[in-house]
Amino acid sequence: MRYSIANTKTTILLLVLLMSSARLYAEDGYDLWLRYKTVTDGKLLLAYRNTISTITVAGESATLLAAKEELQNGLKGLLGKNIPVKNLLHNGSLLAGTASQSAVTRQYISKEEMASAGGEGFIIRSVNHQGKNIIIITANNDIGVLYGCFHFLRLLQTRQSISKLAIVSAPTLQLRLLNHWDNLDRYVERGYAGISIWNWHTLPDYIDPRYIDYARANASIGINGVSLTNVNANAMVLTESYLKKVAVLANIFRPYGIKVYLTARFSAPIEIGKLRTADPLNDTVQKWWNDKAKEIYKWIPDFGGFLVKANSEGQPGPQNYGRDHADGANMLADAVAPYKGIVMWRAFVYSQQSDDRFKQAYAEFKPLDGKFRKNVLVQVKNGPIDFQPREPFSPLFGAMEQTSLLMEFQITQEYLGQATHLVYEAPMFKEVLGTDTYAKGKGSTVAKVIDGSLYHNSLNGMTGVSNIGNDRNWTGHPFGQANWYALGRLAWDYNLSSEEIADEWIRETFSNDPSFVAATKKIMLLSHKALVNYMTPLGLNHLFGNGHHYGPAPWSNNLPRPDWNPVYFHKADSFGIGFDRTVTGTNALDQYAPEVREQYENLNTCDEKYLLWFHHVSWKHKMKSGRTLWDELCYYYYKGTEDIKKIEQQWHQLEKHIDKERFQHVRQLLSIQVKEAEWWRNACLLYFQTFSKIPFPAGYEKPDKSLEYYKSLNFPYAPGN
Ligand code: GCU
Repeated sequence: MRYSIANTKTTILLLVLLMSSARLYAEDGYDLWLRYKTVTDGKLLLAYRNTISTITVAGESATLLAAKEELQNGLKGLLGKNIPVKNLLHNGSLLAGTASQSAVTRQYISKEEMASAGGEGFIIRSVNHQGKNIIIITANNDIGVLYGCFHFLRLLQTRQSISKLAIVSAPTLQLRLLNHWDNLDRYVERGYAGISIWNWHTLPDYIDPRYIDYARANASIGINGVSLTNVNANAMVLTESYLKKVAVLANIFRPYGIKVYLTARFSAPIEIGKLRTADPLNDTVQKWWNDKAKEIYKWIPDFGGFLVKANSEGQPGPQNYGRDHADGANMLADAVAPYKGIVMWRAFVYSQQSDDRFKQAYAEFKPLDGKFRKNVLVQVKNGPIDFQPREPFSPLFGAMEQTSLLMEFQITQEYLGQATHLVYEAPMFKEVLGTDTYAKGKGSTVAKVIDGSLYHNSLNGMTGVSNIGNDRNWTGHPFGQANWYALGRLAWDYNLSSEEIADEWIRETFSNDPSFVAATKKIMLLSHKALVNYMTPLGLNHLFGNGHHYGPAPWSNNLPRPDWNPVYFHKADSFGIGFDRTVTGTNALDQYAPEVREQYENLNTCDEKYLLWFHHVSWKHKMKSGRTLWDELCYYYYKGTEDIKKIEQQWHQLEKHIDKERFQHVRQLLSIQVKEAEWWRNACLLYFQTFSKIPFPAGYEKPDKSLEYYKSLNFPYAPGN
């Protein structure tokens, strides 16, 4: 089946009908931030109703059809009445369409202004046209119009004035992506919200309405690409029977501006191509990938390209044949280049040979700078280890002058309490993006590396490892939705503050009641700090139980590779705790620009939130607070736990503001979180005390269980165990 506009239109119409039945489920979180409940403030409702009378959409593409339907649905909900679609403009018309499709738009918005919206941005403008007040939503391309319509609805959802609109918005990053780690058997690696939403069994014939709602949700926050499958890849997805299924998903997503990407297993030529090698410099192998790309593009003409995990955690790769990452990436890049495809090659590598896992990605990739094809991006996790609650930025950011880098964040909370703990991740994302790499002097932030402006890279972007599953509310924890939302909003505009994003999301998802918004925002903005403190304060990291990565096991030391064991990461002994990465240790700090290195390598200037990432520090070391390191560690573990208790109490106050279902869901999860914060605190402090041999500072309630008790706990039900 090839993509056709007529087919897509019918599909969308059918799905819109199906979607309305989904609304029968009361307040279960399915509607995400696209709830469109009627404005309850009578005065504001009247003002909105007086401003919007009709909808005119100039153009008929599948994307504009989706925009029209979203406006109709959204306004019907928000304004509590039907807003008719008309061809002629009236007082109060909303006019949506590209400038090329509308002479009226061209009359009011200059070419220069249009240029400022770029390929995907939009302009929303109130104008008086021949005595009629109208609102224009326009863009250079249809997708920009759709983004503009979602933004317009957001204005109403967040109760902003729409009387004098003059908005220009264009994305700061080109590639705004989600990476699903979904296996073909529907098990989601590090997924905590059910099984995969991709039902490979019933595709391509059954189209789950969820696929459309998924696309709507992504388009509403500007996500423009999704990699469907796990980075620990299965070559089967590249066979014809799966490509037919992928093509149907691509057809559904296309009107919403979303491209489909697939993970490519490096050994696919052997596994499904019956070749004897996957050597990237072998002509037969190159030809196999060229032919495979041709076949994929026959099914999916706008296929985005490949995401690859190679020579990492047992995955095959070019090093199996004595080649390097650039050889591997370039072979795939050449295969997709004729179709404008790209390759996202992951830098998540760490070999057993290295003296410090921190240094490995830089050691392998820095020498390859300048060797990658133009259509390759090296995809780098935010930190040097692996999505810990807090990591300093990966030294690759800033170090690769001639390589496009793609930021990889993890939305799914593998090391952040999974779908049980409430953690708002925007502050963590922002902390990394805002850090100065000093690669080209002061002001060379990580954000400027990944938006391509520091080194003028041709490609740029950000991706998030998805937290989506087939749970009715998509993300397991109702607040997990906020992290999906934040990733999209930050990829669109990384200058938005965590607070602004939280404010929008709360209003769209729960309520516009000012006291609810203020209290929930406070909860969200405290949550990441609290979690870091009760799990891994002062730069501790990877204290998690092996395999499941859920509960604490800082004592754990039973895996064959040292760099899989918590004791490798904290190095506690009778002197102190922490990993010495200065010149007296592994000298990993040398991978940063001199300004960053100097700042971190000096005990007095090192930001204490990263202290134990870089230093092995005496238990008696005097911290900036005046406390000793041991007392400070106790202080933070207790503070994190107290903060999460505070959050729980604050949530209890909010019962009257929202629906019973979501209130209770969050309330019960918070009570688990409080217990587990205590578990983390007690287990870690009792264990570290066996080294420090110092009593808990006065005034702290002592753990009521012994270290042996905490060591005896296991966590058999955790996914990944
Ligand atoms: C982590 C995670 C794995 C995942 C890997 C990756 O190690 O635990 O499940 O496969 O990251 O990013 O590839």
